[in-house]
Amino acid sequence: MRRTILQLFVAAAAAGIALAVPSTNITKPAAKHDTTVLILGGGVAGIIAARTLHENGIDNFRIIEARGELGGRMRSMEFGATGRRTTIELGANWIQGTQVGDGPANPILTLARKHGLKTAESDFYESIVTYDRTGSVDYLEALHDAVDAYTNLTVVGGGRVPTKQVDTTCRTGYSLLGVKPRTPEEMVVEYYVFDWEYAQTPEQTSWIASSWANNFTFDVEQGGFSEDNLLSIDQRGFKYLIQAEAQTFLLPAQTVLNATVRTIAHSDNGVVVTLANGTNITADYAITTFSLGVLQNDDVSFEPALPMWKQEAIQSMSMATYTKIFLQFEEKFWFDTQFALYADTERGWYPVWQSLDLEGFMPDSGVVMATVTGDYSERIEALSDAQVQEEALTVLRTMFPNTTIPAPTAFFFPRWYSDPLYRGSYSNWPASFVSPHHTNLRANVGKRLWFSGEAMSQKYFGFLHGAYFEGIDAGERVSQCVHRGGECKSLPFQESVPNASPYII
Ligand SMILES: Cc1cc2nc3c(=O)[nH]c(=O)nc-3n(C[C@H](O)[C@H](O)[C@H](O)COP(=O)(O)OP(=O)(O)OC[C@H]3O[C@@H](n4cnc5c(N)ncnc54)[C@H](O)[C@@H]3O)c2cc1C
Ligand SMILES: *[C@@H]1O[C@H](CO)[C@@H](O)[C@H](O)[C@H]1NC(C)=O
Ligand SMILES: *[C@@H]1O[C@H](CO)[C@@H](O)[C@H](O)[C@H]1NC(C)=O
Ligand SMILES: *[C@@H]1O[C@H](CO)[C@@H](O)[C@H](O)[C@H]1NC(C)=O
Ligand SMILES: *[C@@H]1O[C@H](CO)[C@@H](O)[C@H](O)[C@H]1NC(C)=O
Ligand SMILES: *[C@@H]1O[C@H](CO)[C@@H](O)[C@H](O)[C@H]1NC(C)=O
Ligand SMILES: *[C@@H]1O[C@H](CO)[C@@H](O)[C@H](O)[C@H]1NC(C)=O
Ligand SMILES: *[C@@H]1O[C@H](CO)[C@@H](O)[C@H](O)[C@H]1NC(C)=O
Repeated sequence: MRRTILQLFVAAAAAGIALAVPSTNITKPAAKHDTTVLILGGGVAGIIAARTLHENGIDNFRIIEARGELGGRMRSMEFGATGRRTTIELGANWIQGTQVGDGPANPILTLARKHGLKTAESDFYESIVTYDRTGSVDYLEALHDAVDAYTNLTVVGGGRVPTKQVDTTCRTGYSLLGVKPRTPEEMVVEYYVFDWEYAQTPEQTSWIASSWANNFTFDVEQGGFSEDNLLSIDQRGFKYLIQAEAQTFLLPAQTVLNATVRTIAHSDNGVVVTLANGTNITADYAITTFSLGVLQNDDVSFEPALPMWKQEAIQSMSMATYTKIFLQFEEKFWFDTQFALYADTERGWYPVWQSLDLEGFMPDSGVVMATVTGDYSERIEALSDAQVQEEALTVLRTMFPNTTIPAPTAFFFPRWYSDPLYRGSYSNWPASFVSPHHTNLRANVGKRLWFSGEAMSQKYFGFLHGAYFEGIDAGERVSQCVHRGGECKSLPFQESVPNASPYII
C-alpha cells in the first residue's frame, strides 16, 4: 500500500512538472463569472495555490480570507507587559525536518532562507530537565527509553503489511512492544514523545499512518528532510515568511480580506460563493483550503450538500488541538534548559514547559510557556483565563516548592478549538481511517470544487509543509482545468470504502 501511495505521489508530481506554461496568460474568466478561480482561505495552502496559478499564467483569481491578514495558522502576536513586549507564536512555531547536505529540503525551510527568517534549533531531548509532584527529580533515563520505544513503534509499524493487516492504534503497538506506562514519570515521557507531536493520544492515533508521517518528515532514509526542528524566533513573526512570499506575486486586488465565506454553491457551470455580508462572488473554479475542523463543523455549507463519500471522509479524520499557554514574569526563576517536563498523576496535566527566556532565543523576555493537547485543550478553552492561570501557577509552585512564585505580568492562550475559523490546530489520522478515506478526503467534487490544505496531504498531514505541497498540487490541477477549457483531470474517489474482509457475527 505504501508503495502505491508513493507511486501516486510521484506520478502527480511528474504531471505537475510536465505542465507547459501557455504563451498567452489567462487574464479573463470564462463566460460571465466574476473571476476564474476563487481560493477560499489565505493560509499557506491558499497562498501557495495562488502562486502556482500565477506561475501557470493565471492571474484572474481571488483569495477570500475571513481574517484581516494572510497566514492562517501561522499567527503571531505581541505579548507582555508594557515596555517588555515579545512576539509569540500562537500557531505553528517550528520548521519540522530541515535538510541534510543537499538532500530534499523542507520547502518551509527554503522560504525561511529566502526571506531571512530568524530561527533557533530546538533540542527536545538534551536541553531538558524533569520534575514531578515533589519538585525536581531526574528521570531523564525514562525519557531516553521513551524515545527508543517510539522509534521501535515506527519500525514495527512499518513491518506490518498494510495491504493485508488492518491498522490498529499506537496504544496497541506500544503494548505489543511491551511498553506499558503506569507511573506519572512513564506517562509524561510517553506524552512528550507522542502526544506533544500529534496533539492526540496513542489511543486516538493510527499506528501505520503516524509511523509513515514521522518517517516522511524526519527520517532521511525514508525520504524525510532531517530530524531537526527549527523554532522561529523572528520578531516579525513566523508568518512573515509566507506574507513576504505572497508579496512577491500577489496584487492587492487579488486578495479579499475580512470576508467570511458562508456558502459554496457548485454545479457543472461553476461556483457561487456567498459571503457573510450577503455578497455573491462567482467563479469558474473554487479551491477550499479551510481546516478539517471547519469542514467537519458546517461553518461553511455546500449546495448541493457534499456527497456521502466525501462527508464520510471529512468526518472520519480527526482534528486535534495543541495549546500553548504563555506566562511572563518579572524575573526568571525557572530552569535554564529549553524544556522541562512535569509528571502529574493525571496524564496530560500541564506536562510540557518551554522557556523562551534563554540565550539564543528571547533572552530577558521573562516568558515561559506550557503546552496542553487534545481533551485538555478542549477542557481549558471552556474555563476562564483566570482559572487556567491559577492552574498553571499551581503546577509551577509544585515544580519549584522552595520558590515564592509571584503573579505573572502577562498571561495568554489561544482558543483554537472554539474558533469557528479553525476548530482545532491540525489534523491527525485515526486507526479507523484507511487510505481510500484519505483519497476521498482529497478528491475534487465535480470539476468545479477542489480541496486543499494541510489535512489533504497523505505524507505530511498536520504540518506546514503538508499545506505547502497541497497548495502546489491544487494549483497545478486547477491550472490544467483552465488551460484545457474545462477538461479537468479529476482525482480518484470511491463511492464506498469496503472492508478488507467482512465482519462476521
Ligand atoms: C497551535 C499550532 C501549532 C502548530 N505547530 C506547527 C509546527 O510547529 N510546525 C508545522 O509544520 N505545523 C504546525 N502547525 C500546523 C500548521 O500551522 C498548519 O498545518 C498550516 O498552517 C495549515 O495551513 P492551511 O493553509 O492548510 O490552513 P489554514 O492556515 O487554516 O488556512 C485556512 C484559512 O482559511 C480561513 N478561513 C477559515 N474559515 C473561513 C471562512 N468561513 N471564510 C473565509 N476564510 C476562512 C482561515 O482564517 C485561514 O486563514 C501548528 C498549528 C497550530 C494551530
Ligand atoms: C505570463 O505570466 C508569467 C508569470 O508572471 C510571465 O513570466 C509571462 O511573461 C507572462 N506571459 C505573457 C504572455 O504575458
Ligand atoms: C479588516 O478588519 C480589521 C478589524 O476590523 C481592520 O482593522 C482592517 O483594516 C480590515 N482590513 C481590510 C483590508 O479591510
Ligand atoms: C527497542 O528495540 C530494541 C531492539 O529490538 C530493543 O533492544 C530495545 O529494548 C527496545 N527499546 C524499548 C524502549 O522498547
Ligand atoms: C520508518 O522507518 C524505519 C527506519 O528507517 C523503518 O524500519 C520503518 O519500516 C518505517 N516505517 C514505516 C511505517 O514506513
Ligand atoms: C461585502 O464584502 C465584500 C468583500 O469585502 C465587499 O466587496 C462588499 O462590498 C461587501 N458588501 C456589502 C453589502 O457590504
Ligand atoms: C447569491 O447566490 C445564491 C445561491 O446561488 C442565491 O440564492 C442568492 O439569491 C444570491 N444572492 C444575491 C444577492 O445575488
Ligand atoms: C527545598 O527546601 C527543603 C528544605 O529546606 C530542602 O530539603 C529541599 O532540598 C529544597 N528543594 C529544592 C528543590 O531546592
